[in-house]
Amino acid sequence: MKKFYPIKKICCIGAGYVGGPTMSVIANNCPNIDVYVADIDVDRIASWNKKDLEQLPVYEPGLKNLIKKSRDLNLFFTTNIADSIKQADMIFLSVNTPTKIKGIGAGKASDLKWVEESARQIAKYAEGHTIVVEKSTIPVRTADTINQILLAYREKDEAISSPKTFSVLSNPEFLSEGTAINDLQNPDRVLIGGHDEMAIESLAFIYRHWIDKSKILKTNLWSSELSKLTANAFLAQRISSINSIAAICEVTSANINEVANAIGMDSRIGNKFLKSGPGFGGSCFTKDILNLIYLCDFYGLEKVAEYWEQVLKINIWTRDRISRIIIEKLFGTLSGKKLVVLGFSFKANTNDTRDSSAIQICKNLLEEGAKLEIYDPKVKKEQIENELNEKNLNSQENFRDGTWEYSESIYQSAINSDALIILTEWEEFENINWQKISANMRKPAWLFDTRNVANHDLAKSSGLLVWQLGRDLI
Ligand code: NAD
Ligand code: UGA
Repeated sequence: MKKFYPIKKICCIGAGYVGGPTMSVIANNCPNIDVYVADIDVDRIASWNKKDLEQLPVYEPGLKNLIKKSRDLNLFFTTNIADSIKQADMIFLSVNTPTKIKGIGAGKASDLKWVEESARQIAKYAEGHTIVVEKSTIPVRTADTINQILLAYREKDEAISSPKTFSVLSNPEFLSEGTAINDLQNPDRVLIGGHDEMAIESLAFIYRHWIDKSKILKTNLWSSELSKLTANAFLAQRISSINSIAAICEVTSANINEVANAIGMDSRIGNKFLKSGPGFGGSCFTKDILNLIYLCDFYGLEKVAEYWEQVLKINIWTRDRISRIIIEKLFGTLSGKKLVVLGFSFKANTNDTRDSSAIQICKNLLEEGAKLEIYDPKVKKEQIENELNEKNLNSQENFRDGTWEYSESIYQSAINSDALIILTEWEEFENINWQKISANMRKPAWLFDTRNVANHDLAKSSGLLVWQLGRDLI
């Protein structure tokens, strides 16, 4: 029989989009384990602890229910990082790993300062044997760095107290925002990389509470770390591929939905991740491909780096291409024109706006002098402010001619507007009353649908000119 360490208490460092939902699912499925989610962000922890579950810091379908069932029973959100580490048998690292903005590797390499800081805290406060699990997405061989930090402290402490021991595992997270709870509850696979059999079995045992063992893959540490970057690179590559074909459709009268359907029925290609759109956004695809590119450069694999760079270049080109089309259709100038932006989150069913394509597209339109009204059912005004209101560092002036306002109602904002632009595929945009909208718009009035979700026939019959991504140009 395979042996494992008994796990009674878990700590997760980082109460973000991954830490919060992941630990909620573990706590729900493992009532005998106490789960502490610890973060340095006092406001974030306060939001996780709010009575009103509408105020949770992360919006995910199904999350409120899990929190309601487990919070303060075996799921705790806390700022007391030291105590959470001290009592834990297993610690998940779920901190942010953004792209470095300065120094060596700036613009490409991952900034591991939060991972390093967490490892130092673990080294300082852990007691007995502790399993450290990399949940964050990190460059290949980060487990080496973590091990070195843990070891350095262990050696220092040996003289004064009983030695601490550690096993480091890689257990990357594959959840998607908007479907996180379902992804965690029914994952395609759980990947565990490591060198310590007993530690691997201990983590596998936790997942086996609700996941069939055939879905739990065990690999070496480095394969596990690299598989996460590879999965995101492949997914992003499919989106850049389909978006490049959408542009060909527009000049040849092919229809991107028909092409995607036709190729997706080939079982070797498969039908997922073939939706053309305004480019991929979110906190991870760009950052993880940059990370992969940095690794390639580091190991002298120049051609491989160039290959993956193209995926990012097509993504930026897609955002700019859509902006250019809107400007051209509106007679080459947006000065003083009112445009209603529908959707600001990077995809539907999430309030996350990190690297949303809407940011770049809105900035492009603002530079042309547009008056934007931005509507999103889940994104708050302050979030949009953070993304759009940066100043020009040289002049301290806001360098854009345009202005934007937060919209509470699509129908109200549409009054006297020149165009509506769908940037996120929220379900409510499928059911817009185009007759009501069109009646109040300035003519010629446009609908630009970058997600192909609106009822275009109704929009056209209501008097709108309609541009759909990857379809005939009008
Ligand atoms: P996030 O920014 O939402 O959350 C990270 C949290 O870590 C923050 O609340 C921050 O305050 C906290 N933190 C940082 N340093 C800390 C420290 N020393 N002690 C305690 N708390 C600390 O990030 P996220 O979206 O949850 O992503 C976390 C990791 O998971 C990243 O590596 C990301 O690439 C990866 N990932 C994200 C997703 C996703 O959908 N967002 C999916 C899979 C993997
Ligand atoms: C993505 C991966 O799907 C997850 O497996 C991974 O865990 C996660 O990144 C991560 O590492 O952070 P996420 O970013 O939440 O998840 O969302 P996706 O559904 O992958 O969408 C990413 C972007 O691609 C969105 O802007 C979405 O609109 C766009 N997209 C997606 C398309 O344009 N077309 C598609 O067919 C699919």
